[in-house]
Formats: sequence, structure tokens, C-alpha cells
Amino acid sequence: MNKTELCELAVKAKDNAYTPYSGFKVGAALMCRSGRVFTGCNIENASYTPTVCAERTAVFKAVSEGETEFEMLAVCGGRDGIISGMFPPCGVCRQVLAEFCPPEFPIIIMTSENTFKELTLEELLPFSFNPEYMNTED
Ligand code: THU
Repeated sequence: MNKTELCELAVKAKDNAYTPYSGFKVGAALMCRSGRVFTGCNIENASYTPTVCAERTAVFKAVSEGETEFEMLAVCGGRDGIISGMFPPCGVCRQVLAEFCPPEFPIIIMTSENTFKELTLEELLPFSFNPEYMNTED
């Protein structure tokens, strides 16, 4: 699966976003090393803080199915589901990605229905607190 195809899956996933409060609809598609792809959307809540982002939905779906090695992530979204301009993944999602992905992990951020920018995890989250710091054997 190439980047464009992964973006198409992220766009489709956005349709399932549950956003009665913000109207900001996000879709994500995460490609695993195995070739499997997990999609996710944001899911909001009347109590607000339980809201989960599209990126984390995709990561947690994958991990819960036994996948922990990832190739790339595509993400798209915008107010009323309209992809217009770049919006970067939130800090919590960056931290969740840092648990599983190396610094060079590519994150494809759609800027319109058919354009995207590509950044690495390290560009989005430099000097991250990651599992290396939890290694008690050193
Ligand atoms: N949101 C995401 O799904 N991913 C992000 O990286 C940023 C924000 C969602 C959460 C909430 O439902 C809405 O966008 C507005 O913050």
C-alpha cells in the first residue's frame, strides 16, 4: 500500500468521526510492518475529557490486535470534515506514537483531498520520553 492509498483510507475513516461537540472530524490510517492497516476516527464525549483522537484510536486498535510495529501513519481532518490546510497531531497522540515508533517514523498529514505533507515523529516530538528511559537494565 502506498502513501496515497493510505491517505484514501484515512479520508474514509473520517466519515465515522463522532463529533457532536466540536464538529472537527479526523481520520487516521496506520500501516503495520505486517502490511495490515488499522483506521481510526475521533470519538467525542459529553464529558469532554474522555474524547479520543483518531490517531490513538488507530494505534490502540492495532495494538489490541497484536500489532506493535508500524510503517507509517496518514491523518486528515478539519472543521465539518473539510480538509483545508495542515493540522498536526496533538501532543498526546505524539507521545503514544513515541511508545511504538522510531524517530524516523513518517507521519503523512493531508493538507487537502489530494495533497499532503510528510514529517517524522522526531520532527513533531523532539527529545521524547520513550521506552528507552524505562530500561532498568542499564
Ligand atoms: N483531534 C484528533 O482526532 N486528532 C488530533 O490530533 C487533534 C484533535 C480531535 C479531538 C476532538 O474530537 C477534535 O479533534 C477537536 O479537538
